[in-house]
This record gives sequence, C-alpha cells and structure tokens, in this order.
Amino acid sequence: MSDQDVLRPAPKGLGAAATAFGMEHVDAVFALLRAVWPIPRFGKTALVTRYDDVREAFLSDDAFAVPYAAKLDVIMGGQPFFLGMGDTPQYRLDTAAMRQVVRREDVTPRLTSAFASRAEALVAQADGRIEVVADLSRRVTFEVLCDYFGVTDPPGQDLKVITTRLFEFQFADPGNDPALRREVDAMAPLLRNHIDGLMAARRHGGVEIDDVLGRALKRGAAGEPGFSDDQIHSALIGFLVGGVPQPPMVAPQALEQLLRRPAALASAQAAARADDDASLAGHVFEALRFDPLAPALMRTTVKDHQIAAGTARATVIKAGTTLLVSFRSAMMDPRRIPSPKVFNPRRLPHEYLHFGYALHTCFGIHINQAVLPLMLKPLLQRQGLRRAPGAEGRLTKRGAFADRLWVEYEA
Ligand code: HEM
Repeated sequence: MSDQDVLRPAPKGLGAAATAFGMEHVDAVFALLRAVWPIPRFGKTALVTRYDDVREAFLSDDAFAVPYAAKLDVIMGGQPFFLGMGDTPQYRLDTAAMRQVVRREDVTPRLTSAFASRAEALVAQADGRIEVVADLSRRVTFEVLCDYFGVTDPPGQDLKVITTRLFEFQFADPGNDPALRREVDAMAPLLRNHIDGLMAARRHGGVEIDDVLGRALKRGAAGEPGFSDDQIHSALIGFLVGGVPQPPMVAPQALEQLLRRPAALASAQAAARADDDASLAGHVFEALRFDPLAPALMRTTVKDHQIAAGTARATVIKAGTTLLVSFRSAMMDPRRIPSPKVFNPRRLPHEYLHFGYALHTCFGIHINQAVLPLMLKPLLQRQGLRRAPGAEGRLTKRGAFADRLWVEYEA
C-alpha cells in the first residue's frame, strides 16, 4: 500500500456535496445559532453552541457520557480502554498508570527534538517543494510517535493505513458504513495480534528499551496495578488509533489557515526564524481555531440534565439524546473569545478547546502542544514559502481528513 491508500476514496454524490457545502458555511450557521437558538434540538439530537454551554456539557460527564465504548470494543476485542469509560475508579487507575509511562518529561527534549529534526530533514530533502499532509506531517508523526510507543509496522502492513481506518471507524463514521466495517473487522485483529507479538518478543528478547512499551512491561513484571497484559495492550492500541492519525489532520489545516492570511503568515515566519517556539505555537493554535479537528464531539445523555440553568436559554436535555458539543463554535463565541474573527496569536490558554475539556481532555495534549508547531517550523523558516500553483496548492480534504496540500519554498 502506498501513502495514497492511507485515506479511503473521497466520498461522492449528493450527500458528500451537501456535507462539503455545510462545512464551508458551518461558522456562519453556528454564529446564527449562538445568537438566536443556542441549544437547538431535533428529535433525539441536540447541539450546544455557546462557549459556556460547551464547557458545561464536557464538565457534566455524569449526564453526558462518551459514546465510544461500543466501537472501542470492536477495535480492542472487548478489552476496555479509558477513552470509553465514565469517571470510575478504573478510569482513574488506568490513566494514572499510563501517565507513569507516557511522561511529561519525555516531551522536551526527547519528542521535541525528534519531531524537529525529522521535519527539518524532510523539508531539506524535498528540495523546494513538499506535500504537507502525507510527506511531512504524517511521516514525521508516525515515525516519531510509533518509535516512542515501541510499536512497529505489522509485517507486510502499514500502521498508517490500519490506524487511520480504525480512527475513521471510531470517530468519523456516524452512518456506520458497512464497507469500512469490513476493513475494520480484518484490521483490528491483525493489529491486536501484532501488539501481542511485540509484547512477547520484548519479553523473550531480554533487551530493555526505554519506550512506552518497555516501561509498561517492566512495571507489569513488577506487579504494579494498571499494567496487566490486557491493559498495556489496549492502551497501546488506544494511543495508536486515538492519537497518531490526528496531527497529520490538524497541522496542515493550521498551515492552510496561515497561507490564507499573509500578515499572520509573516508573523508566524518571524517567530519561527527567531526560534521563538512559544510565539510560533501561539500562531499555530490560533490558526487552527479557524479550522479545528472537528465541528463537535459527541456525547450520549444518560440522565436528564438542564444546560444553562437560570438563564433564558436553559434547556433540559433528556436521557437518550445524542448531544453534539461544538467546541468549534465555542472557540468563535464572542461572549468569551474577544474579537473571535480576528487572528490573535496572543490569546489566553482557556480560549482554546482543541483538545477537548474536563474528564476526557486529550491524553496527548502536552505532546501535541509542543510538537505540532515544530512540524511546521522548518517550512516557516524557509524563504519564499508559498502555495504550489493551481489546485494542488490549496488544502483538500477527504471526509474528516486533511488530504493534500503542496507548498513551495526556496531550497
Ligand atoms: C494534534 C492532534 C490531536 C488532537 C487535536 C486531539 C484531540 C483530542 C480530543 C478533542 C480529545 C477528547 C475527546 C472527547 O472528549 O470526546 C482527545 C482525547 C484523547 N486523546 Fe487526543 N488529540 C490529538 C493527538 C493525540 C495523541 C498524539 C495522543 C497519544 C497519546 C492522543 C491520545 C488521546 C487519548 C488517549 C484521549 C482520551 C483521553 C481520555 O479519555 O481521558 N491524542 N484528543
């Protein structure tokens, strides 16, 4: 399989055209809803659009539960992973265990220097013209993070394809496409067997490697809770499927937004050239606010809950309702985000919800905050960064995924 096969063929037909049209205008629709109908309900589905209500929905995890467990079961073969859990003792134990082996102190310099040097090498080799999604962001992310987790490609297979398909099934398949399910039914057991094989090989190889798998096996051998074989196995698959496909979605989206704004691009380039990584990150995450990971995250209402109690918009969301929590809309809400249409690389941290909020806040948030800007930094440092001529110089998407963006620069 080539990198071309990582994403499934672009959806076609009237439905796909309507979705693409809707996404083009989604910010205008959200703005209208925030003003006149901030908590719309259609049958068994409801949507929260204002910043305060989005935060309330994420905080109210006793009423609005993550809907991920059923599909995670398909991927994991029934072994629970904390992304699918409520706030239970098991959730607390599993996340605390995994924080012992995915450590804050790994971010700098271990991961930052690996991301920075791989990205720089690829930009240098590409000689003045590069495709930002597959040839830069996806390559760097998979190479560095898979090495950090301690997971290789299954023999004759490509982890990029497997994890991206499983990610699509888990997070971007609301219609439950049967063709995707057939692929998942083949790929998920293959990935599980491969991880089992890696764990067995490490155990019998006798070599201690300081990566996430090596650390977890060591703690498991010492009998520490949270590190049974099943827990290590499902955490690794969860990180691979839930985490690694995303940086290649959002890094190109941020660059596309910078390319649309010459003054913001020039200012991001100045930060990159001055090695001011904090300012560079400010530019990248602000750019991403204009095209974040998704329009909303989904929750299942498990008990009646009144959102925005005591206000004119107070609305009871009934048990059984699917709640769409629009973090995209929240990040454009002028009630909390000053001048939201203005590009401002010096916003406050709470104005961003790129990585979710409250209980299920992204487990990889510290990694992402540090490494995403570094993937784009070598491009922004080059002179003459511009879109490639024609259509290939504008970011295209396939379904939920960034697909292609060619840029040129002085080699
Ligand atoms: C830049 C890329 C990424 C973005 C934008 C992102 C975004 C998110 C978001 C929005 C959530 C919350 C989901 C929800 O509440 O429904 C989440 C959760 C999660 N993310 Fe990320 N993520 C990224 C990369 C990663 C990476 C690299 C990892 C690898 C460690 C990772 C691991 C996780 C895990 C394990 C959860 C579940 C946390 C929990 O249930 O407590 N993510 N991510």
